[in-house]
Amino acid sequence: MSNGTEREQWGSKIGFILAAAGSAVGLGNIWRFPYMVGQNGGAAFVLVYVALIFIIGFSVMLAEIAIGRAAQLNAVGSFKKLKGGVWPLVGWMGVAAGFIILSYYGVIAGWTMAYIVKSFTGLMGAAADGAAADVFVGFITNPGAVIAWQALFMVITIYIVYKGIGGGIEKYCKVLMPALFLLLLILIVRSVTLEGAGSGINFYLKPDFSKITGGTLGAALGQAFFSLSLGMGCMITYGSYLGKKEVLPGAAAQVCFLDTMVAFLAGLVIFPAVFAFGIEPGAGPGLTFITLPNVFGQMPGGSVWSALFFLLLFVAALTSAISLLEVVTAYFMDEMKWSRAKSAWTMGVVIFLLGIPSALGLAGMLPKFGGRDFLDSADFIASNVLLPLGGLFIALFVGWVWTDGAKQEVENSGTAPFGLYVPWLWVCRIVAPLAIAYIFITGLKW
Ligand code: TRP
Repeated sequence: MSNGTEREQWGSKIGFILAAAGSAVGLGNIWRFPYMVGQNGGAAFVLVYVALIFIIGFSVMLAEIAIGRAAQLNAVGSFKKLKGGVWPLVGWMGVAAGFIILSYYGVIAGWTMAYIVKSFTGLMGAAADGAAADVFVGFITNPGAVIAWQALFMVITIYIVYKGIGGGIEKYCKVLMPALFLLLLILIVRSVTLEGAGSGINFYLKPDFSKITGGTLGAALGQAFFSLSLGMGCMITYGSYLGKKEVLPGAAAQVCFLDTMVAFLAGLVIFPAVFAFGIEPGAGPGLTFITLPNVFGQMPGGSVWSALFFLLLFVAALTSAISLLEVVTAYFMDEMKWSRAKSAWTMGVVIFLLGIPSALGLAGMLPKFGGRDFLDSADFIASNVLLPLGGLFIALFVGWVWTDGAKQEVENSGTAPFGLYVPWLWVCRIVAPLAIAYIFITGLKW
């Protein structure tokens, strides 16, 4: 921490893994992943996605954690300390991406809170009448309500970030992440046993490779970075609170695995139900919010299940939002010497205000940009442009610029398995940069 005191640290290694997994697991897994799969052809997208996590995601994750732990600073400060020159620009880009992502993330997270309440106020009845989509559209076209929920969500996020690392963030992740996992398992059982679930399982798991286009690759890469919280220094910032004893590759692998599992399970809940209820898989950002009420409606005590699910989704979103705000807050604390309170509250309010156009765009009150509403545009710029570029530079930094430092950090003074860093460094040097650059360019052309 700044102000002359010692930097805050995670209470334990499992605390770090849960917090990093808490950052990774969020709306990206349960809201964004299914609708991306739905819009990009189903199982073929899933396959490309998983391949990209293995090849690129893990390596960039390890790179970010190593940078942060070595420098013990925020995203910008870390690059300044380890190398300087133009490299801090990568951190700057990350802080900017944090502003953009959290601005609309807060809007969607607000939906989850509204849906907790709606679970008890007519949502189940509407679903029984086949009107879950009407409830959704009615809600998002009422910007007053959407913005009020967004405001409430942001206040909670800011408050936890203001309380600081060990006391705030870690505590909440320890119990609630496993609960979310368990609930997903229960919902899968309900979803796959619905009548007509089979075609959803096919759509989700039986790849049709003709569906892979430049657009699919770009979307899958953007989804991988978004879901793993990579490319903007979030894992740099979290890594900076990690003690020197911890062995990094295992931690990175666990976070990647947990995140991918949750997304995969979420798909197994959503797609059987999408087909069973005749919902359009390419329906876009509303997909999860329209599909799930139908599933709950088919369960005894549906409103309680529904409320519980949206509560856990809210918590998952909260632990992710916290990490986004933490990137911005740590920057203002370390670099501008602001207090934690001033950084968190000032920037949190600014980000809330930035999110308002996303809410208005959903209600059709703003013009569209090339067919995308405001939220979609912000999401596209952040996920498909800023995050992959950030990841590209982070890989290059570790592969070519700060290589010896990275080796040392990952070797962990001999406690990590010897030689593990060799293939990782080659991925950072060649494989990841080429793959990202290729996908980035074909994606943009497409
Ligand atoms: N990964 C989170 C999710 O899946 C969102 C998120 C948190 C994020 N921190 C991030 C995305 C940093 C990109 C970068 O919901």
